[in-house]
Amino acid sequence: MEGLRPFPALTGNGVQTPSTQNALWVFAREQSASECFDTARAIESAVGSDFRRVEEVSTFVFRGGHDLSGYEDGTENPKGQAAIDAAIIPDGPFQGSSFAAVQRWIHDLPRFQSLSPSERNNTIGRVLETNAEIVDAPLSAHIKRAAQESFDPAAFILRRSMPWSEGGEHGLLFLAFGESLDRYERVLARMVGQEDGVVDALFTFTRPVTGGYFWCPPQIGGRLDLSGLGL
Ligand code: HEM
Repeated sequence: MEGLRPFPALTGNGVQTPSTQNALWVFAREQSASECFDTARAIESAVGSDFRRVEEVSTFVFRGGHDLSGYEDGTENPKGQAAIDAAIIPDGPFQGSSFAAVQRWIHDLPRFQSLSPSERNNTIGRVLETNAEIVDAPLSAHIKRAAQESFDPAAFILRRSMPWSEGGEHGLLFLAFGESLDRYERVLARMVGQEDGVVDALFTFTRPVTGGYFWCPPQIGGRLDLSGLGL
């Protein structure tokens, strides 16, 4: 379909974003792990043997919406109508649908904790205790790399990332919705240094190990509306 493409394996200055594109992604979003389990099993059984499960990641809310590094995540997310404008296709055959970018990142928290508090703040570009933006943070600070308004056109996306922890590893399941994948991809390209050679300081303690793009159909009456695909 128009606008959907495989996730790009980007490289820049010693860092990379692997592409592990798969066919189907299911976001089971419930109030408890128990409900999630039931929902995931029901979907798996509805999908049947046409698909093979390649990955399942259980996520959780950490300290009310923080990344495992301790920093609040989602502060600059667009809200209300701005969130809808950023995430939902407004018209045409795919009206009401969205695109998702999903990436699993693995953190090296001992490495992050070995940095001084000010180095950690400069990695993100915000102050841990207050979440205040550091206006004169280095160019490599994550919020300088990702500043949505600094792109032309602006690259607002709706992030719904969640921490995960499993088998002794942990990190962030990055998730963003956009009315096009270009918004996300322009941010990612700048993060790996493709614009100016400056790599996002996040890469000093975390790295992506998966990457996929998906089209999210709209729902009508609680059911997926696939009419845009002629189904
Ligand atoms: C492990 C990976 C990542 C971590 C831990 C992380 C964490 C954060 C944190 C703590 C903030 C500041 C608070 C906020 O506004 O939400 C932030 C902002 C942001 N991040 Fe990330 N992020 C990660 C990956 C990414 C990726 C892959 C993208 C997109 C390609 C991205 C896009 C953004 C954007 C657009 C903002 C808001 C920037 C602004 O306009 O101020 N992040 N992130």
